[in-house]
Amino acid sequence: MNLDKIFENNRDWIAAKQNGNEDFFSNLAKGQSPAMLYIGCCDSRVTAEAMMGMKPGEAFVHRNIANMVSNLDLGVMSTINYAIEHLKVEHVVVCGHYGCGGVKAAMQCADLGILNPWLREVRDVFRLHKNELDAVPDEEARYRRLVELNVQEQCLNVLKTVEAQRARRDRNLQVHGWVFDIGTGRLKDLDIDVDGLLEEISEVYHVA
Ligand code: CO
Repeated sequence: MNLDKIFENNRDWIAAKQNGNEDFFSNLAKGQSPAMLYIGCCDSRVTAEAMMGMKPGEAFVHRNIANMVSNLDLGVMSTINYAIEHLKVEHVVVCGHYGCGGVKAAMQCADLGILNPWLREVRDVFRLHKNELDAVPDEEARYRRLVELNVQEQCLNVLKTVEAQRARRDRNLQVHGWVFDIGTGRLKDLDIDVDGLLEEISEVYHVA
């Protein structure tokens, strides 16, 4: 990889952005008020803003392996806190993707070192939905379904936070689960029934 090329690209990008809009960067520097918090996978093929056609300033982005919303991960928890409480985003999106290496690894029996505790949470999703997943005979289809169920569980993990519960009550914050299909480039809304899911768990997780 030629790193010089990156700086050359950057100069071209600046020129393109300023073309017809000289104040592009000075306006950008004034502040951000993104309407969306996007939580996605680190996978190099799932480029958050590019595949959504979003411009700088439009999405607050957090990415980690397998788009996890892990309760003890200070990174994702502080991102959620800041996005909801301070930036007042209207939407939180958890976006998974088919072909996710993290989800695949969690379906296999292997010691992956520090990845073990991280991917253990994907294994927990498998256990929670074991009956449904075991009933899918085709392994590829089962893998794709686990990607979707993992997105659903991470949406639930967003809803378990006090920030999300308060913002849903006070200003109708929306939580969405999406999946990106690398093989087609298509972004799919899983149409997760957030209210239904929340109703099922609210007795246990209600904090706001
Ligand atoms: Co992935």
